[in-house]
Amino acid sequence: MNPETRPLYEVRNISKNYGSVVALDGVSLSVRAGEVLGLVGDNGAGKSTLVKVLSGAHQPDSGELFLEGEVRSWKSPHDALEAGIETLYQDSGLAPNLSVSANVFLGREIVKKGLLGKLGFLAEKQMDTAAHNELDRVGIGVASADRTVAELSGGQRQAVAIGRAVTWAKKVIILDEPTNHLGARQSNEVLDVIRAAKAKGLGVIFISHTLPHVLQVTDRVVILRLGRVVRNAPTSEFDAESLLGTITGLLGEGDRA
Ligand SMILES: Nc1ncnc2c1ncn2[C@@H]1O[C@H](COP(=O)(O)OP(=O)(O)O)[C@@H](O)[C@H]1O
Ligand SMILES: [Mg+2]
Repeated sequence: MNPETRPLYEVRNISKNYGSVVALDGVSLSVRAGEVLGLVGDNGAGKSTLVKVLSGAHQPDSGELFLEGEVRSWKSPHDALEAGIETLYQDSGLAPNLSVSANVFLGREIVKKGLLGKLGFLAEKQMDTAAHNELDRVGIGVASADRTVAELSGGQRQAVAIGRAVTWAKKVIILDEPTNHLGARQSNEVLDVIRAAKAKGLGVIFISHTLPHVLQVTDRVVILRLGRVVRNAPTSEFDAESLLGTITGLLGEGDRA
């Protein structure tokens, strides 16, 4: 298959139950390199469950995952990370008392064994510079990477969390509600980081309730309702009204704006 049209990361027929609750019911979707896929749906639609399956935190009851055309399965989030799939959960997991640069490198010694030796020899100053350069490269200006995260605003913190994910993501980045609780200017910065990730050739999966953000930054939208994909179409086929209508079910599955 032509590499430019081949999905980077794809799931087919994913189902997942929690006891008698059907959280995902035969979900298929894919993201290409350099594409931003929006994943939307009402509360309980199955978005978080799908994120957990994509990131290796949950195993599906049935269905298959393909990375670059090859069947894969993740026993843990660690497996997915190693394969180049980075996930930012709603709770970013930054350590407030550590510096920005320490946060950028946090935990990498566990996931990236190869870096351990290298980092062991890196002076703190060099790590600050490296973190600063990485964040700069993805469009996040943090005045000084040696400041602690506690000194940053909510928007800056979120930017650091996303910057860290973009920095380390080799192939795919999954962002669960990254603009929640952010002001307009801060949200715009986050959207710029998403654009930078796209420009870097990553496949981006963006989960959000803020439909204007979804319309601004995505190339394609997948709408989940009660564990099923009810629509998968280019973003250009939606406006705010038709997107909301399809999410809530007020517009039928075949209806167009
Ligand atoms: N750990 C769990 N145990 C039982 N039911 C769950 C669990 N997590 C999610 N669910 C149920 O699965 C369905 C999908 O939830 P979720 O994936 O969180 O949807 P969303 O993120 O779109 O709000 C919901 O009915 C929810 O109540
Ligand atoms: Mg959720």
